Parts: sequence; C-alpha cells; structure tokens
Amino acid sequence: MTATKEKKKIFVADRNELSIGLGKQVSVDGVVLALFLQSDGTVNAIENACPHKGGPLSDGIVSGEHVFCPLHDWKISTKTGMAQGADKGCVTCFEVEVNNGKVYVFV
Ligand code: FES
Repeated sequence: MTATKEKKKIFVADRNELSIGLGKQVSVDGVVLALFLQSDGTVNAIENACPHKGGPLSDGIVSGEHVFCPLHDWKISTKTGMAQGADKGCVTCFEVEVNNGKVYVFV
C-alpha cells in the first residue's frame, strides 16, 4: 500500500500585499515560495529556486505569466514552472486559493 501525504491549506499573504509585475517570497512549512499576482486576479505559486542554479525567482523581472531569473535570465513560467525556450528544467508549482482577499497555498 502506498502512503499519500495529504496537502495542507496554509495562509501565506493578504491579496493586497501582492502587485502585478512583482514577485513576493514567502516561506511555508519549510518551503520557500514565490507568489505572482496575474492581471486576471489569480495568483501563481512556484518554488523560489530557479531550475538552473537556484536563483531567487521572486526577485526576477515579470512579463505576463513569466518571470526572468535575476541571475542568468532564464525565462520560467509562473503557471507551469517550466523553463522556456532552449533552457530545460522545471520548478514545483503549488495550488493556490484566493478567498476574501486572503491567499492560501496547498503544500
Ligand atoms: S540561476 Fe536562474 S538562470 Fe541561472
């Protein structure tokens, strides 16, 4: 029998702490995440460590649903976690819920 780990819903930020075009770093249950508010009001949460050499994606330049790593400019989707173009790699994505102005992440 395989053990499954149930995910926990954890409050991480007030919605009004987030700005479109700016990442925000939060720590949840020992995991460091980067939050990104999208223009449609949704929030994406990904592991805050670039798949190249661990750059802090929350400090990157945001363009739409992508963020450019501040260290070597890899382009990462904040929606899928996948590196774009010729670059290969992926960061973990986390499910997000926004409810009454509160942002929750499932970890
Ligand atoms: S660490 Fe992100 S591109 Fe190199």
